Amino acid sequence: MSETISVEAATVTTGTGSDFSAAPWPTVRRVLEVLGWSMVAILVFTGLAVVLLRAGFMTQNLGAAGAELIETDPFNGRYIKHTVATWLHLIPGFLVMVLGPMQFMRWIRNRWTKFHRMCGRVFILAAGTGGVSGVIIGVFDPFMGVAGQGFNESMATAFFSVYVLFCLVMAYRRIRERKFGQHREWMVRSFALLLGIATERLILTALQINTDIDMAVLFGTTFWMGIIANMAAAEIWINLTRTPGNGARHWKDVDAKARAG
Ligand code: HEM
Repeated sequence: MSETISVEAATVTTGTGSDFSAAPWPTVRRVLEVLGWSMVAILVFTGLAVVLLRAGFMTQNLGAAGAELIETDPFNGRYIKHTVATWLHLIPGFLVMVLGPMQFMRWIRNRWTKFHRMCGRVFILAAGTGGVSGVIIGVFDPFMGVAGQGFNESMATAFFSVYVLFCLVMAYRRIRERKFGQHREWMVRSFALLLGIATERLILTALQINTDIDMAVLFGTTFWMGIIANMAAAEIWINLTRTPGNGARHWKDVDAKARAG
């Protein structure tokens, strides 16, 4: 069943599968787009910074220096202990941070569709590898041990990894079926989740500066906080920008058409 309604000069069709879910809020969308991209820039910068810092740490602690850290420094030593998994985490993490924003730029998608497809495949492979290597480090050997405070980090990592992998699979399947809107939604979810690692880092740093809470407690808890904050942001954005039909039309075009009358 469907009916046609008019909202702020926008004529949209309602009914299963054909709603422009937030037709009345073009201004909210425009403001959130600017805020969202600013936030993405901060998070990507944070993500790249932690990747490069950790990569620097790995190259400076080869051989005996690294072996000593495994014995003396439970947090940093684990990265040396799991050298292969760590590099399989850092390199894909870097790719995710660089490719992710590009995939959401409309002018790149429209002009260089083949490039978008190729980068999309690399993004999915990189994010998948990052998720699996993260499990090796964080689920089985979390900072503070699985049986202690580390259980919190272990479970956050397991949830995070499984849900990211699920979102990536869904995004890939939906684009193979040419369901553009649903592909976009699963990609928004995937990237928002992957940026959660940077949100966590910002929350962790703020709490370390402003409270006396021990790192052992903070680490796992801020992991959850980062993931949930980004998941919520993604769902709000998806609901504000879902367009009618198969979603191939961009929300900006739907808004522009509504403005034109
Ligand atoms: C599903 C995806 C991911 C999962 C499950 C995951 C999980 C983890 C886990 C468990 C750790 C170890 C934390 C610890 O106990 O010390 C870790 C570390 C790290 N991850 Fe990820 N991660 C994911 C994606 C990413 C992405 C996209 C980036 C890109 C910025 C990234 C960058 C890092 C870095 C730089 C570290 C080292 C942390 C440090 O230097 O303090 N991760 N990740």
